[in-house]
Amino acid sequence: MENQIIALRNEITGKLSEVTDLSELDAIRVAYLGKKGSITALLKGMKDLSVEEKKSFGAKVNELKEEATEAIDKKALELKEQEIQRELDSMPVFDVTTPANTDRGSYHPITLVQRQCEAIFRTMGFAIIDYPEIVTDYECFEALNIPKHHPARDMQDTYYLDNGQLLKSHTSAAQNAILKKYGKALVEKGEPIRAIFPGRCFRNEATDACHENTFFQMEGVMVDKDISISNLIYFMKTMLSEVFRKDIKVRLRPGFFPFVEPGFELDISCLICGGEGCPSCKQSGWLELCPCGMIHPNVLKEGGIDPEQYTGFAFGLGLTRLAMMKYGVKDIRNLNSGSLKALAQFTDDE
Ligand code: DAH
Repeated sequence: MENQIIALRNEITGKLSEVTDLSELDAIRVAYLGKKGSITALLKGMKDLSVEEKKSFGAKVNELKEEATEAIDKKALELKEQEIQRELDSMPVFDVTTPANTDRGSYHPITLVQRQCEAIFRTMGFAIIDYPEIVTDYECFEALNIPKHHPARDMQDTYYLDNGQLLKSHTSAAQNAILKKYGKALVEKGEPIRAIFPGRCFRNEATDACHENTFFQMEGVMVDKDISISNLIYFMKTMLSEVFRKDIKVRLRPGFFPFVEPGFELDISCLICGGEGCPSCKQSGWLELCPCGMIHPNVLKEGGIDPEQYTGFAFGLGLTRLAMMKYGVKDIRNLNSGSLKALAQFTDDE
């Protein structure tokens, strides 16, 4: 029986020196130490021995059992470490001293000015609202005091869908829905309506340096008791001085839009030519940037707001034009070009 112990010890040592992975090792553990394992069998076989023999032989088998357990545990640790090392070796090597890759893309100039305007109006308590690009004739025209066959529709020819819906020709198309949405809080809680709604607009347009069939506007409305033109002028001036971070020459002249009364054109001195006249400003030295006015009583009424009690202003800021002015983009067509050379040079850093 002594020989059996010696043979098993040699066998285990030999097998452990050859084992290369944990599942093989597990099989070895079961083969020697499991319920039906060889060492367990030796212990079971002792039942026929004399008490004396049991004592000496039992002690030796237990010694072998302990040795085997220890050797297998040690091997398991070794194999685990080897496995981790193999995984580490297969991972890509990072050189933490390599300079960071700064080629991270950039925002579109229109996105930049839009975000800036949103931040400015947010600080003045305006909600920022997203609105669909596909709208109905009612939203785009009828609700804005532009009935069918009104000549003002000529300026706003756009793209029509087979179902009669259209791609919105101006962000004013959201006015009616916004008046309806916030009108209740205005009447019941006295909360003024203050909202801006930036968005993409479309028109059937002959394109040139300052006209595109796709462009961005940012509409704004404020409605409350006693809102006047001075409120309108205050908000416009605050916004422009924040965007340009300098004093901008502006002029307000009468303008006709069926949904405001009175209506204005707010022009800024052309920043590309300094007011001397260039293709971007149609040689006039001025750029129409923000038509605006006091919301027409019919539009308020259509939005469910009593024009006898409430007044409000609205404006339709040309975001595309604002981006051109701010970043000195001479041709509007560059903005939709997808040319990274033209578009990737602008940042938010002042
Ligand atoms: N929606 C008009 C357009 O695109 C611009 C406009 C004019 C918007 C006057 C307004 C406004 O809110 O009050 O031509």
